[in-house]
Amino acid sequence: MQFELTEEHLMIRQAARDFAQNVLKPGVIERDEHQKFPAEEIKQLGELGFLGMMVSPQYGGSGMDAISYAIVMEELSKVDASASVVVSVNNSLVCYGLEKYGNEEQKQKYLMPLAKGEKIGAFCLSEPEAGSDATSQHTTAIDMGDYYLVNGTKNWITNGNTASTYIVMAQTDATKKHRGINALIIEKGMDGFTVGPKENKLGIRGSDTHSLMFTDVKVPKANRIGEDGFGFKFAMATLEGGRIGIASQALGIAAGAYELSVQYAKERKAFGKTLADLQAIQFKLADMATEIEAARLLCYRAAWLKDQGLPYAQAASMAKLFASETAMRTTIEAVQIHGGYGFVKEYHVERLMRDAKITQIYEGTSEIQRIVISREVLK
Ligand code: CAA
Repeated sequence: MQFELTEEHLMIRQAARDFAQNVLKPGVIERDEHQKFPAEEIKQLGELGFLGMMVSPQYGGSGMDAISYAIVMEELSKVDASASVVVSVNNSLVCYGLEKYGNEEQKQKYLMPLAKGEKIGAFCLSEPEAGSDATSQHTTAIDMGDYYLVNGTKNWITNGNTASTYIVMAQTDATKKHRGINALIIEKGMDGFTVGPKENKLGIRGSDTHSLMFTDVKVPKANRIGEDGFGFKFAMATLEGGRIGIASQALGIAAGAYELSVQYAKERKAFGKTLADLQAIQFKLADMATEIEAARLLCYRAAWLKDQGLPYAQAASMAKLFASETAMRTTIEAVQIHGGYGFVKEYHVERLMRDAKITQIYEGTSEIQRIVISREVLK
């Protein structure tokens, strides 16, 4: 068993760390305040090869492993989870799905520009009445011969307005339930496709979350991913990898809040000592460090299983469940350690606390992760 990162992993970590500190950090408070999408920063992440990290170079990607992806997600998320969610969705839910299940034409046309970071993708599963209950799709894709006629609404879509390429799950044959769902590639600009207003969110406020409306959108049959009725399995399989990304995002949020807390505890004086001299603070930091290390090991293990081609659904859900709960607990404690300073924006921890919450909700709530885990346990 090998617990050390390779030289290559360490180099990737340093590159992501430098980028987070030098490029993401300076504007992160303002972007959060004004709900501003990190457009220039995402462009630069694309140039670094971080938007198609695991895609083969043949299709414009960087050909890295899932452990590298987890490392990059952690480092970026220590500073800016609004930027890292773009990295996660583009890599896991869009590029991975297209490379694994798309045909050659789809890879050339859609995957290439997404992997190179020239375009951004979105994954469209959630609906007003289909969040956790993802089989209950109301968006329809009626088979019209050589095209599908798509009607319906998608909710809370990350990269909703910024994306150019959308993978949309829609029901073609309701009598077949989830086996009647298709995954369709829809391009921005197709007639009848409109983007709703940006959501005003508690956290990850810089990310671009919108509802999407489809009214008689004609989608060529060539844009269907996989066989007829493969859409739900496509969504579930891509979400497995997505959960490694969000687990690593949660890990990064926790680690970012922890590092700020250690620094603050060493500097801040109270009762004639530094906070770090007080056992009440030492114990909090010890708990944070322990949980973060456990979360990191779960993230790396899930990524490693994926890299080995072994089943990783349960491991990814365990990582996401534990890391997101760790992010919530750690950031709350970080605000507590910072006291009054923790409650104002300049010290970053209040934002990390708000950002942590979404990691318990998107790509499956903590309850959904428990369903996935317990099904495996009880098999
Ligand atoms: N890979 C492939 N197929 C899978 C699968 C997987 N990981 N998991 C399930 N399936 C298949 C099953 O084999 C089954 O197929 P058959 O009937 O043909 O055998 C089919 O899918 C249905 O499976 P279940 O019976 O397990 O379905 P269920 O209704 O009980 O639901 C669930 C399972 C785990 C609750 C699922 O609905 C789920 O994960 N819900 C949460 C959805 C979610 O994560 N949404 C996130 C939105 S995306 C997002 O947040 C992105 C963002 O913006 C950041």
